Amino acid sequence: MTKEKVLEALKNVTYPGFTKDIVTFGFVKDIEISDNRVALSVEITSSAPEVKEQLNKDIEVELQKIGASEVIATIMQPKAPREMSNSMSGKNLVPHVKNFVMVSSGKGGVGKSTTSVNLAIAMAMQGKKVGLLDADIYGPNIPRMMGLIDQRPEIQGNKVLPLKAYGVEVMSMGSLMEPGQSLIWRGSMIMKAIEQFLRDILWSELDVLVIDMPPGTGDAQLTLAQSVPVTAGVTVTTPQEVSLDDSRRSLDMFQKLHIPIAGVVENMSGFICPSCETESDIFGMGTSEAVAKEFDSTLIVRVPIEPAIRIGGDTGMPIVYHKPDSETAKRYQEAANKLIAFIDKVNEEGGADNSGIQPTTPPGVSACSTGAAPQQNSGGCGTGGCGCH
Ligand SMILES: Nc1ncnc2c1ncn2[C@@H]1O[C@H](COP(=O)(O)OP(=O)(O)OP(=O)(O)O)[C@@H](O)[C@H]1O
Ligand SMILES: [Mg+2]
Repeated sequence: MTKEKVLEALKNVTYPGFTKDIVTFGFVKDIEISDNRVALSVEITSSAPEVKEQLNKDIEVELQKIGASEVIATIMQPKAPREMSNSMSGKNLVPHVKNFVMVSSGKGGVGKSTTSVNLAIAMAMQGKKVGLLDADIYGPNIPRMMGLIDQRPEIQGNKVLPLKAYGVEVMSMGSLMEPGQSLIWRGSMIMKAIEQFLRDILWSELDVLVIDMPPGTGDAQLTLAQSVPVTAGVTVTTPQEVSLDDSRRSLDMFQKLHIPIAGVVENMSGFICPSCETESDIFGMGTSEAVAKEFDSTLIVRVPIEPAIRIGGDTGMPIVYHKPDSETAKRYQEAANKLIAFIDKVNEEGGADNSGIQPTTPPGVSACSTGAAPQQNSGGCGTGGCGCH
């Protein structure tokens, strides 16, 4: 018996719940063979005991087929995340998702959904398992931006399978409703919907779930932060002062909700005229760095106003995927890198913890005021050109 033969045999062991095998996934670590005894270690990403049990069985069966008389498989699992739901501890409705990124802004129309889409795809392109949850219940734009406008999800029992586009699992209220329909819901129903989006969608074991928030600092943000430990908060802003004022509110909200701040995305930061290549600072440029510093944070990236970004959003062909060589796509990739590094740092330092913001008041009564109610302004992107013609 040789290592090669063992690996060949282990290719018949599929990772439970997936179509790929444990060798292709790169889970098989050390193989030692003496006579017909095989010892190996397998490092898996699931903490579920059933997965370990199943693998032990399948490995033994496959190795016995090639003549192993004794099989010692050491299956190494990550520690199960804590799932606790009383007011003294943290709460995590989706413990099999490793990290949650909340993309927020004080103001509407500044590019949260655009940022969420491009960052999620950029992380997926870098090999992460990524999901994208559209938590903008009233104004869901993610299906269009991800090219999923005509798709409806599959229902499994009383759960819903996420849709998939550009290597990212996606769910949105827009994918569950008839196109063009509006929702008129009370705040408590929004809170329920967000909880269901976490609990009743069959998300895989994701490395990161990116959550595109509605504008402002309201029920949706609070519910989300109380339901899962958010690993990183990203504030999207445009560079003009009125938007920066609102970003301070968004950053302050992260602090109040105990969410580690990954930084600020300065969107619509300058416009390079496609005809004459002069750069005009329509909303200003580079102004948000100082605001980020006020919160001990950084400017993650500056993204210019670029017609291709808007077209990518409208046609469901995000720039980061469809124009990977463009300057903007490279900036999104760099931003994704920084975000991943930030998430790693938060986890090295013990991870996010939402125990301090659990409700201590009866259901239906707000536990902590985060200031302004959600705003529904439409910022407008002003992509009208630099006037060179
Ligand atoms: N850098 C950019 N250059 C050009 N257009 C952009 C840019 N960023 C966003 N847009 C466009 O601006 C519009 C608003 O962006 P987006 O929907 O991402 O904002 P939002 O903050 O999610 O809005 P809302 O608050 O309504 O959810 C979209 O049409 C989008 O394609
Ligand atoms: Mg949006």
